[in-house]
Amino acid sequence: MKKLFLLTFIIACIAGNTALAQRADYNIIPLPKQVDTDTTQYFTLQSGMGIAYDASNEEAVRNAKFFSEWVEQSTGIKLALTPNDKKASIRMSLGFASDKKLREGETLTEQQQEAYKINIDDNGILIEARNPVGLFRAAQTLRKAMPIVKNTKDVKVEMPYAKIQDEPRFVYRGTLLDCGRHFFTVDVIKQMLDVMALHGCNQFHWHLTEDQGWRFEVKALPNLALHGSVRQETTVGPNVGIYDGIPYGGYYTQEQCRDVVRYAAERYINVVPEIDLPGHMQSALHVYPHLGCTGGPYPVRTYWGVSREVLCGGNPETMTFLKTVLGELCDVFPSKIIHIGGDECPKDRWKACPKCQAKIKELGLVSDGKRTAENQLQSYINKEVEAFLAERGRDIIGWDEILEGGLSGKSIIMSWRGTKGGIEAAKQGHRVIMSPNVYSYIDHPQLKDVAKQPRTTGSYIVSASKMYSFEPLMKEELNDEQQDYILGVQANLWTEHVAYPEHLFYQLLPRLGAMSEVQWCNPEQKDFEYFKARLPHLKKIYDLMGVKYCTGIE
Ligand code: ACM
Ligand code: ZN
Repeated sequence: MKKLFLLTFIIACIAGNTALAQRADYNIIPLPKQVDTDTTQYFTLQSGMGIAYDASNEEAVRNAKFFSEWVEQSTGIKLALTPNDKKASIRMSLGFASDKKLREGETLTEQQQEAYKINIDDNGILIEARNPVGLFRAAQTLRKAMPIVKNTKDVKVEMPYAKIQDEPRFVYRGTLLDCGRHFFTVDVIKQMLDVMALHGCNQFHWHLTEDQGWRFEVKALPNLALHGSVRQETTVGPNVGIYDGIPYGGYYTQEQCRDVVRYAAERYINVVPEIDLPGHMQSALHVYPHLGCTGGPYPVRTYWGVSREVLCGGNPETMTFLKTVLGELCDVFPSKIIHIGGDECPKDRWKACPKCQAKIKELGLVSDGKRTAENQLQSYINKEVEAFLAERGRDIIGWDEILEGGLSGKSIIMSWRGTKGGIEAAKQGHRVIMSPNVYSYIDHPQLKDVAKQPRTTGSYIVSASKMYSFEPLMKEELNDEQQDYILGVQANLWTEHVAYPEHLFYQLLPRLGAMSEVQWCNPEQKDFEYFKARLPHLKKIYDLMGVKYCTGIE
């Protein structure tokens, strides 16, 4: 009888028995700045306990709801929303008492504005944050610390006493998704935003236009998305002349874009839209061939690589077109920064185009050995666009090629061809986002045995450990003042070979976990072996969220 009891007990434990209390573990990804725990004492969390918050603050209400949903999802524990209960076991409080001591004129960094503190003791869980965003970050931290319980009946979670203090290292923590090569539905975008928020990302760089498809509705130019979004077929695999014969398309209405912006904002993510110009524009040229140097015709491109068909730099209608597009973009996207692309714009057509050459002459652009006249023409277009966007209170951000023709001081450089462009830009006093292809291009395979993975771009150069090792401040090359221009880091997911959501998340995860520690943690906190030890728990949360991930890690 005794043996039978013991056996039942063991089986119950293996099945994730809930009669036994489960324990929280604050060693999460990304690791908070400071965690002091006392594992000899714990507060027990269970159903029926209340969450108090400021009911007059819409964001606090939303974050309290998020927290209760996440705790229930992981553990089955149902917490009650009890806004005014001063004795509630969980209290979400806005404002740091210590801020009263801030001296006049003393300002906080944007990272400090995201800060939060968690105190867990006999009285329960006290979350304090300067701003609602901090409540959200704290709720994510506690969510990730919760055990994942399979049998969720009568669960109790032991939460070791702890004091946690946290804020991010970098102000810009981004992820790019290319929706030009392949289109992903709004539901998939929202799932990606949830995954980004789990990792503390705060910038969604939405690559909306490509040679292979225009995805943003422009109401004044209805044919642009209608026809520019559809390619007649797609190359199968790399460009070897085999096509699938199936038309492919899809675009986002402005209403859908606004919905994405709203959903992202509720998760403290800014959406940075990108209209890639003046190259990567073949889908637009398909609809408006008079905007190309040769007049076309131009099919929406059906294969990958860089197209030499670009917007004509000498046609005044090019600027009219861009202003129409960017004007509507600004109406839809409130982001303070607008990405204007600028990468991979071959100048072959411009060199041979009478209109482009006439414009070069009119502007008095001459090659100075470092900058060709055509590079300066691209720079002229950038400056026109920059002035137009500045009138709407926006700054431009562009790929590092925009350095080549000269730049104005407010432009932000996104360094993708390694770190060279970012270093140069910081030296020139421009703000920089680091997204070097060799560390942060997650369209590349993440495991050495490439043959066993879905088809991806190029070779095995961005394993999770490589990505994890990236140090963005370039201390060898930049002095302290120049390092201040590095705003942060971004992972980029290009989608030539990524056509389905399962593949998207497989490419993204768990590398976004590795990237999140580059973005969030101080260098001295980072340790890849320790990261790997913390990863299994994060993968269980991916499972709960229903997203695919690569099970291996190298
Ligand atoms: C890029 O990867 N062409 C920015
Ligand atoms: Zn031209």
